[in-house]
Amino acid sequence: MPNDQLTDIGACVFDAYGTLFDIAAAAAHCKDDLGDNMAPLAGLWRDKQIAYSWHRSLTGDYIPFWQVTQDGLDYALAALGLDGDPTLRQRLLDLYFKLDAYPEVPAMLKTLKDAGLKTAILSNGSPEMLKAAVDNAGIEGVLDDVLSVEDLGIFKPHFSVYQMAVDRLGVEAKRVCFMSSNGWDAAAAANFGFKVVWVNRFKQPTERLPGDIITQLDTLASLPDLLGLG
Ligand code: LAC
Repeated sequence: MPNDQLTDIGACVFDAYGTLFDIAAAAAHCKDDLGDNMAPLAGLWRDKQIAYSWHRSLTGDYIPFWQVTQDGLDYALAALGLDGDPTLRQRLLDLYFKLDAYPEVPAMLKTLKDAGLKTAILSNGSPEMLKAAVDNAGIEGVLDDVLSVEDLGIFKPHFSVYQMAVDRLGVEAKRVCFMSSNGWDAAAAANFGFKVVWVNRFKQPTERLPGDIITQLDTLASLPDLLGLG
């Protein structure tokens, strides 16, 4: 059903990892090697990747997200006693570099584009990893822009990242509909001034952070309907 707070949207902007691209896919493709460690490895890897990005933003010691991703993986492998297998490490990284998109993503983006909305990714990801994932998913033709924090040298949720989307897309913040599966990203983007739909794929509780989201979805399949394009 259309949401009456999402009636004058000019652009739909998406977080990448966990929102458009399946962050559990790399570990899932290595299920045979990981066994019972598959879910703990995927969770710890993601948690450390995000924690390291915040640490580096706070200390002013920016490095590209691809390096942050490798550092997070190395911590997680060591924590689980899996750091003795360089082949497994390389396989996980190769898979992460071109992660699968969630199944509903290509058709959903096409519906938005066909309706005349601007579409873009706004991500912590390094340009080369975003390009690999976008190419792998075959969605380059339904995206107007792929915006990486690399140009700013600081990670989300710094407000300068959300402002970059406003500046580059030429759409004022209140006409940007922003989608993220990360509760902290969703909260910050709402506090910045975007209209935010939290894609709560992982059934997480609401973050105790400032910023009011408009609504939440389980997947992106019903986003066009929410925007009155169904
Ligand atoms: C991103 C991470 C935060 O794509 O999911 O920016």
